[in-house]
Amino acid sequence: MSSTSTCKSLSITSDIQIRVIKPQERQQVLDFLRIHYYLEEPLTAGSEPKQQDKEDEEFNMSNIEHGTCIMAVLKGDTNVSEQIVGALMAGPKGPHEAEHLFEEAAGLGPTKWGHTLQFLACVERDANICGRFNVEKVLHVHVMGVDSALRGHNIGGRMVEEVLNVAKRLQYEMVSVDCTSVYSAKIFERMGFKCINIKYYKEYIDETGKQVFKPEAPHECVKTFALKL
Ligand code: ACO
Repeated sequence: MSSTSTCKSLSITSDIQIRVIKPQERQQVLDFLRIHYYLEEPLTAGSEPKQQDKEDEEFNMSNIEHGTCIMAVLKGDTNVSEQIVGALMAGPKGPHEAEHLFEEAAGLGPTKWGHTLQFLACVERDANICGRFNVEKVLHVHVMGVDSALRGHNIGGRMVEEVLNVAKRLQYEMVSVDCTSVYSAKIFERMGFKCINIKYYKEYIDETGKQVFKPEAPHECVKTFALKL
């Protein structure tokens, strides 16, 4: 890398601020995630139809009201305008999360989001975070997306640091995440989270024996991580 591009990338990352998403920023965050998250997230991109369901978007956006969703913004020259370059959506879960997910999945039936929730319910049941660690108030990270032009600059890592600060402030006992991507898994490994469970996509098949989620390489499993606060 040339010294010019190193300086440029350093100034980009130092101009990025990390903060909690406000309710009035819902639409901008959703527009950002439609481009920089849904098109590549392994469960979404690895199943048909490729387009995410409205219920999926609504669920993720509903987490904003908890004050536990984080964004990364790049400040413009005037410091007034800002551009979203990352978003992390997290919300509370408790001991009955797996049952809730199974119920919701059953209610949705054979839709894309219904299949996804059914899979996430199995992941939640197997990881059993609340039962395993005897905790009741867990903050779960559902979504993480970084501007595709700015990946590999630890923007994802900085958003995770901030969600940990928020979780401590709001007296959560743990933070957990189901990493559907090898790249998000690297972040949580690096930040000292414990890997609790691994579920391989090739082992999750429907009643006809077909693999339900077929993400492109290198994504081959969901890794569940947790950190006690
Ligand atoms: N291609 C190759 N490597 C990549 C890419 C990429 N597109 N993106 C990130 N990486 C690598 C980085 O080099 C780094 O590896 P290293 O630790 O060996 O150096 C690691 O992934 C993490 O990089 P960071 O800079 O800490 O994270 P980043 O700011 O790039 O954000 C993220 C990572 C959010 C996963 C990003 O890749 C992304 O938005 N992906 C698309 C959406 C998605 O799949 N999100 C994750 C699923 S949701 C979830 O798991 C909760």
